[in-house]
Amino acid sequence: MKATAQAPANIAFIKYWGRTNAVLRLPANASISMNLSACTTTTTVEFASEYAKDTVELLGENGLRENEAERITKHLDLLRKQVGSALHAHVVTKNTFPKSTGIASSASGFAALTVAAVAALGMKCSEKELTALARPGSGSASRSIPDGFVKWGGEYAHSLYPASYWDIRDVVVVVGTIGKDVSSSAGHDTASTSPYFAQRLRDVPGRIARVEHAFQAKDFVLLGEVIEEDCLDMHHVMQTQAPPLYYWNETTIRLMDAVKHWRNEGLPVYFTIDAGPNVHLICEGAYESTVLEKLKNVSGIETVIQNRVSDGTKIISDHLF
Ligand code: DP6
Repeated sequence: MKATAQAPANIAFIKYWGRTNAVLRLPANASISMNLSACTTTTTVEFASEYAKDTVELLGENGLRENEAERITKHLDLLRKQVGSALHAHVVTKNTFPKSTGIASSASGFAALTVAAVAALGMKCSEKELTALARPGSGSASRSIPDGFVKWGGEYAHSLYPASYWDIRDVVVVVGTIGKDVSSSAGHDTASTSPYFAQRLRDVPGRIARVEHAFQAKDFVLLGEVIEEDCLDMHHVMQTQAPPLYYWNETTIRLMDAVKHWRNEGLPVYFTIDAGPNVHLICEGAYESTVLEKLKNVSGIETVIQNRVSDGTKIISDHLF
C-alpha cells in the first residue's frame, strides 16, 4: 500500500480567486493554467497498520508548519473515507523549488498527495475523478493533474491542449522567499468583501473566451494581453478586500515596468503574479534567451526558474523511502 507521484505546479493565465464553497473549494469563476516543468513535487504515501498516526516529512526544507500537516491529514481522511479505510499513513515529500516562494506549492503538493494516496489505497479513479478528489485539498491542485494547458470550470478540471501544442515558457523570477502574512486560502474567503469582486466575476467569462480564442489561433499577443489584464484585475480585488492583501515588493514593481518597456522595444513578453511577490514572465520559446539576457540588468532578483509546458501528475516507481 505504497505509491509515489510527481506533480507539476501550474501558473494560471486566468486566476482562481474567491469561491462559492470553502470546504469543497468550489471556485467562484473558471480558470485556465499551464503546468510547469521545473517546479514539481514528488510525494510517497504508504498506508500500514503499524502507523499509529499520520506522519508527514518534508525533505530539504525547514519542515511543515502544524496547520500544513493538519491540512494533509484532513485530506487523507477524505480519501480514506472513500474506501472505508482506517489505516494511517507515512508521507514523505520534496519540492524542486522553495515552498515559501509562493510558486503554487499547494497545487503540486495536493496533486501529488492525492494521486499517490489514491494509488496506495488501491482506488481506481479516472483523471476526471482525480481532479475532483484533489480539489478539497487545494483548488489549484485540480489543475495540476491533467496534461499541458488546463481549464478548471468548477467541479472538475480537464486538459485543453497537450504540452506539445504550443511552446510557451514561464520564466519565474524569484524576488522574495519570505512567508506570506495571509495565505491564499484565507484570502479566498474574504475576496467578496472587495467592491470590485462582482465586476471581476462578470468580466472573467469574456477573458476565458479570449484565452480560448488565442489558443485556437496561437495568437500570443492576444494571450499575453489577457494574462496581464486578469492578473492585474485579481490583484485589484486582493488590494481592495478587507483586510487588503498586498503581495508585491519593489522588485515586483520594477519587473512589471521593465516588461512594459521591453514590449515597447518589440520583445513579446507578458507578466503574471500569484499570491506572492515573484513575477512569472510568459513568452514563446524563441524569445526566452532574450528575456533571460534582459533580466541580467534588473536588480533585486534572487533566482530564475525556467519552465516549459509539462504533462500533469504521474505515478513514478522511485519511492522517497
Ligand atoms: C492566486 O489554490 O492556493 O494562485 O484552494 O485555498 O489551496 P486553495 O487556494 P490556492 O489559490 C490559488 C490562487 C492564485 C491564483 C490561481 O492559481 O489561480
